[in-house]
Amino acid sequence: MRHLVSLNDFTGDEIRHMLEESIRLKKLRRENALAPLPGKPCLALIFEKSSMRTRVSFDVAIHDLGGYSIYLSRQDINLGSRESFKDAALVLSRYVNCVAARTFEQNTVEELARYSDVPVINALSDMYHPCQALADILTALERFGTLKGVKLAFIGDGNNVARSLAVICAKLGMDYAIASPDGYELDEPSLKLAKSYAAKSGSRIEQVRAPGDAASGARVLYTDTWVSMGQEKETEKRLKDFKGYCIDSALLKAAAPDAIVMHCLPAHRGLEITDEVMDGPQSVVLDEAENRLHAQRAVLKLLLSDWRS
Ligand code: CP
Ligand code: NVA
Repeated sequence: MRHLVSLNDFTGDEIRHMLEESIRLKKLRRENALAPLPGKPCLALIFEKSSMRTRVSFDVAIHDLGGYSIYLSRQDINLGSRESFKDAALVLSRYVNCVAARTFEQNTVEELARYSDVPVINALSDMYHPCQALADILTALERFGTLKGVKLAFIGDGNNVARSLAVICAKLGMDYAIASPDGYELDEPSLKLAKSYAAKSGSRIEQVRAPGDAASGARVLYTDTWVSMGQEKETEKRLKDFKGYCIDSALLKAAAPDAIVMHCLPAHRGLEITDEVMDGPQSVVLDEAENRLHAQRAVLKLLLSDWRS
């Protein structure tokens, strides 16, 4: 049995397999020819934080596979406080076939996985957002037909989304550069880990200061909120510190001519991205959002059946 707590646990070949499976299932869904999984699988959706895309796409994905979901908010189960992660995981494993968990701390999703007898999927934590990264790279693959040597530039906070993108790019041989203000870089251990994957795949991972330096030569220009969920108290300071880290038309011009613009959403128009870029011809934010569904359907299918079948 496999869990998806982060993409660190998967090889480049396994990630490529997830992407290929996403493309295959996306085509089958369009032809209305998806085969349901046996046994009407039940997916528990544990969400400690708000969500629109992740919650809806997991719900639709499990229905597509002939299963159904049960949504459990923080209020419902009070994870780690009403009872231990261990007890919650052991009990849930008796009821459901898979768990997707959006948690404040990465440790929570790891503890659930440690004790769960069914696959656990990270639906976003403070450290990682692996399902988002899969959908993003699926979008790049569809656009460019290849990933090797494609450069992704992340402009902004060295956060959960930036970290998952560093992992996936490094494992798949994509170049990755992140431009962040002082104090908001990717943490050193994550950077070191990504660089170790990149050494094997032949790609380049860089942390830089100036957005233009990251954007130079990039075919994917990416940004995310400056204030992630759980950081609301830092809003005023962050809005000041991130000034100049906005994807606008001038920055887009510094990227490759065929560059696409990504944002995991929800976006704060006028802060990390301008309306003009977000609604412009190079923006693929809606394809990315749609691909959450296709990537997660593949993840569910792979984790709920024999990995290679
Ligand atoms: N991108 C993303 O995960 O969106 P939600 O927070 O709405 O799920
Ligand atoms: N970095 C953001 C991503 C939201 C999908 C957050 O954690 O709030």
